[in-house]
Amino acid sequence: MANQLWAKKPISSLLTESSNEGNQLKRTLGATSLVALGIGAIIGAGLFSLTGIAAAEHAGPAVTLSFVLAAVGCAFAGLCYAEFASMIPIAGSAYTYSYATLGEFLAWIIGWDLVLEYALGAATVAVSWSRYLLEFLSNFGIHLPAELVCSPFETLKLSNGEVLDGGIINLPAIFIVCLLSLLLIRGTQGSSFINNLLVVVKVVVVLVFIVLGWSHIDPANYTPYIPENTGDYLHFGWSGIAAGAGVVFFAFIGFDAVSTAAQEAKNPQRDMPIGILGSLVVCTILYVLFAHVMTGLVNYKDFAGDAKPAATAFAVTGYDFLQNALIIAILAGYTSVMLVMLLGQSRVFYTMSRDGLLPKFFSAVHPKFRTPWKTNLFFMGFVSIFAGFVPVSDLGHMVSIGTLFAFCLVCIGVWIMRVKSPDLPRGFKTPWVPFVPLMGIVVCLYLMYSLPNESWARLAIWLALGLVIYWSYSKKHSKLHQGSDNK
Ligand code: ALA
Repeated sequence: MANQLWAKKPISSLLTESSNEGNQLKRTLGATSLVALGIGAIIGAGLFSLTGIAAAEHAGPAVTLSFVLAAVGCAFAGLCYAEFASMIPIAGSAYTYSYATLGEFLAWIIGWDLVLEYALGAATVAVSWSRYLLEFLSNFGIHLPAELVCSPFETLKLSNGEVLDGGIINLPAIFIVCLLSLLLIRGTQGSSFINNLLVVVKVVVVLVFIVLGWSHIDPANYTPYIPENTGDYLHFGWSGIAAGAGVVFFAFIGFDAVSTAAQEAKNPQRDMPIGILGSLVVCTILYVLFAHVMTGLVNYKDFAGDAKPAATAFAVTGYDFLQNALIIAILAGYTSVMLVMLLGQSRVFYTMSRDGLLPKFFSAVHPKFRTPWKTNLFFMGFVSIFAGFVPVSDLGHMVSIGTLFAFCLVCIGVWIMRVKSPDLPRGFKTPWVPFVPLMGIVVCLYLMYSLPNESWARLAIWLALGLVIYWSYSKKHSKLHQGSDNK
């Protein structure tokens, strides 16, 4: 029935069901915790791994401009996210917002698409985490069996100079995914405390890198600042800056995860916009400074194929004793990114399950810990498979394209909502509508355009699978369709 596809979930029912009986999540997060949650989700593999790759392959020292371009897109989308989050302060992220604005069908697509962002995002960082762990262990002469730290489809440069062309499984990546999933099952409050600690460590490392690195910058490394285009569209020059933005966009993913915790925020109306935009601003400033120092310490060409560019650049400063501390902090920083990703993922599926679009299994709340523990366990397995067997670059591109797609739909949603329900109370209003949502859509589409073609194909396959599930299960079980969403 066509009508059901466009049926919208009433916002009033969204709000009342959030205070519904036994399945309620605890409200424990204040504004500071939400900003920390955002920074915890944002600074990670994108900064510590992809900055070097974007500089070496696409933008040169002008990777700083790539960060600015990506941040602009995120800011437009972030402003839209903030309005939605303040209007619909319950768990579920872009999925929930679109259910209230764009209808059930598009909401399903977004919720399904968010798996690419959160679950595969966690897998991407887990793979990168395992690379930094190997580096750390090898500094102490510990070498894990190469086949067990490398997935079948990637090559790994071993410390003895040999190259392993395809291993069996990436076990460290699976280990960290399982550990953090179990931690989340114990409860958000405990994980939020640990997250706050990790965020402090992570920000301190970025600041130490910037401050200590600044006086060792060699200005010669900035010439030319925008290397001449090689003739290939995405390699250097202005188009290279755009391609670099597509790559480092991954570094900004996560600020929207703040919105998935709305149901656990003490004062969502005020605190959600602070959490989303605050974390975005802080991270943008840190990223640009970090990238500036990094490409000033080492020539951008030397970052080609380097999975640990932060360590390579820091070595120039001569503070050798800080090198291992830097890696430990980066490992810790990655941990907080994965925590937020896994948390966001479980909350999205929790909400979709409560709406009847997914089986009840996904909204079962643990009697003692009050967390959606079965969802956590499910994604522990799902994310582990990707972390253990898929290379980091393939994962990263999938995450980026899926997230950009979701951002576009959020921008469209906030615009539609302004036109259709202008009087609905909003704790935060996006300025200059429709200019801001429109620019969000344009910039996100542009960044999608700069990603490789195979990412588009994978996105299409994933969405097709989602459509099959929607038509064979969700459509029939939707509570909105059965008229029972207000219970
Ligand atoms: N923004 C997150 C990172 O860079 C996903 O790791």
